Formats: sequence, structure tokens, C-alpha cells
Amino acid sequence: MIFDPTVKIAPSILSADFSNFGQEIEAIESQGCDWVHVDVMDGHFVPNLTFGPTLCSAIRKHIKTVMDVHLMITPVDPYIKAYANAGADIITAHIEAGPHAHRTIQVIREAGCKAGIALNPGTPAGAVEHLLDVVDLICIMTVNPGFGGQKFIYSQIEKVKKLSSMIGDRPIHIEIDGGITVDTAPLVKKAGADVLVVGSAIFDGGSVENPSVYGENIRAIREATGG
Ligand code: DX5
Ligand code: ZN
Repeated sequence: MIFDPTVKIAPSILSADFSNFGQEIEAIESQGCDWVHVDVMDGHFVPNLTFGPTLCSAIRKHIKTVMDVHLMITPVDPYIKAYANAGADIITAHIEAGPHAHRTIQVIREAGCKAGIALNPGTPAGAVEHLLDVVDLICIMTVNPGFGGQKFIYSQIEKVKKLSSMIGDRPIHIEIDGGITVDTAPLVKKAGADVLVVGSAIFDGGSVENPSVYGENIRAIREATGG
């Protein structure tokens, strides 16, 4: 994967039809998304349960773009290899998931994936200061992780700005996850983000029978960020 700093839209399949992932993924990709975001939850680090590695492996067969796996699980290190084997391109773990984020990044890279670190809304940008030379992506959570369809937390915009200036010209993606709409997308783009995870604002109102709604939603968010 070559570093691309332009805006990328990553639909979260947490908001897709769970009985029809193959067609849902084909629909969002044919409608112009850039990455596919897969939210893995363990019912322990976050109060919800979603996808294991076997399901990720089944989903992978349908993804032609980038499989962006967001692990909201603890412990995380013992499961990284399984998600890498399932075909993840990027694996993001939470800094709050354990005391050894630097080691977690090494484990992800050794498994052959790009390494991301996610920060919950209460975690300051400075928490990743000493990881900037080893990480490929930093995900700022703009909701408390666990569910789709929550309200954007505006205090995180300041954090994105701070992170962006800390990163400088390093090739690190700033990903925003939670509450992204046509209204909030331009704010985080302006603050320095380049990857926008979007669940409900892409999937709501559309379906595999009516995928043009997904396309309209993807285009509206992209246009709101200035293209
Ligand atoms: C929250 C997940 C998000 C979420 C985004 O824990 O990490 O990816 O599904 O969904 P929306 O865009 O609906 O907030
Ligand atoms: Zn996510």
C-alpha cells in the first residue's frame, strides 16, 4: 500500500445488512468507497460483540479495495495474527487495550499489515507522541466505541488539529471514526484527517437493491470535504 494523503471514505459494515455482507461490500465498492472498515468488538473492551476472524476471512473474498480492521478488543496481541491471516490490510488496535501499544504495533507489522492505533475520546493526542515513528495510522474516535449511529463529539476536533501538527510531514493517516456526516466531515478534514469512517450516514436509506443511495451518500461526504 503506497501512502495516499487524499480523502478516503471507509464505510463501516457495522451499519450494513448482516445477512448479506458479500453483496453489501460489492455495492459500496461499486458506488465509489475507498476502504472497507470492519469493526471487531469483544463484549468486554466495548459493550457489543461483532466479527471473529473466520467471518473476516469470508468477508475478505468480496473486498477489492482495502480491508481496514478496527480491533476493539482486549487483550489484542494474541488475536492479531488471526486477523492478518483473515486478509486485513490495516489492523488498528486501541491504545487503551493494554500497557504495551509499541509492542502491539510491532506484532501487527510482523504479521505483514499496516499498523494503526486508535484513541478513545478521553485519551489525549500526546499519548501517541512516542509512537509516531512506528505507526501507519492513528484513529481518533469521535464517539465512544461500541455502536454505530451515535452523535459526533465536537471536542475531538481540537485533538485532531494537535495530532496533525505533531505528525508534521510523516506518512501517517489520520482516521476519524464515529458520527461522520456531511456536516462533520468538512470539520475533521480541515483539522487534518484523511480517512473518514462512515457507518449510518452511508448505509441508512440504501440497500443492495437500491445501491445508488450509497453512492449519493459517499459522493455527498466526499464533496463536503472539498473533493
Ligand atoms: C464505533 C465504530 C464505528 C461506527 C461508525 O465503535 O468503530 O466504526 O460503526 O458508525 P457511525 O458512522 O454510524 O457513527
Ligand atoms: Zn471503527
